[in-house]
Amino acid sequence: MENKGSLVNVGLGMTLGSHITPLSRSYIENADVVFVAASNNIVEQWVAGMNDDVRSLQEYYQEGLPRRKTYEKMVAVIMDELRLGKNVCGAFYGHPGVFAWAPHESIKQAKAEGFKAHMEPGISAEDCLYADLGIDPGTCGCTHYEASQFIRSQKKFDSSAYLVLWQIGVLGSNTSKKFSTTQDYIQSLVDVLLKTYPEDMEVTLYECAVLPIEETLIYKLTLSQLAQSNTSLKTTLLIPPLSKIKKID
Ligand SMILES: C[S@@+](CC[C@H](N)C(=O)[O-])C[C@H]1O[C@@H](n2cnc3c(N)ncnc32)[C@H](O)[C@@H]1O
Repeated sequence: MENKGSLVNVGLGMTLGSHITPLSRSYIENADVVFVAASNNIVEQWVAGMNDDVRSLQEYYQEGLPRRKTYEKMVAVIMDELRLGKNVCGAFYGHPGVFAWAPHESIKQAKAEGFKAHMEPGISAEDCLYADLGIDPGTCGCTHYEASQFIRSQKKFDSSAYLVLWQIGVLGSNTSKKFSTTQDYIQSLVDVLLKTYPEDMEVTLYECAVLPIEETLIYKLTLSQLAQSNTSLKTTLLIPPLSKIKKID
């Protein structure tokens, strides 16, 4: 038998106001309590206007605390409200299931404890990247990795497909509150990539607009220039296919 109380984790999309689905909005409006994790305070204020009990998850980012501990605290507060029998909504920017541990983990734990729990998709950075950079993963394939994990695991990957590296702007900052990276960390990524790609390979740093008034950032540079470039919490790196394979018509 299912317990009283439910959990739904919804996506807010990437750009304030325009990406949220009517269904996700309705879950936010009708929940007993909403936990929000957005990339921007203005986005959090926008969500705060949809329900009388909206609580930010940002406070769980603490100096020196490993990112994993922060995410565990987020899951713990969600579970606490659920165990009180409330209908809980987690509102996460982008897609709640894309490069996001807490939304998946809270649903897993909720189900294990007999609560009704599910996820509603949202428009992710990946979706925006295909639109803004005009690429189709169907032409030659597309691989996605978290950048630190990509360096650590030295994964074998298909260089004839697009390669998308996430969280390049926080490489090496797993235990700090700064949420930035250094040239040395980016250089270590470049060193791994240079085993496969030439130095003059053109790559793209990408940041889609979070506020409707912002411009999307599309910055093309060579692999050898990457370590000197500016990155942020929002930066995603796209590396095009090394060799063109025959396109599907
Ligand atoms: C923790 S993941 C969250 C991804 C999010 N759940 C989604 O659906 O896109 C954070 C990473 O997503 C990417 N990202 C976040 N905001 C972005 C933006 N505005 N433009 C491009 N990529 C972004 C970056 O790679 C960033 O390091």
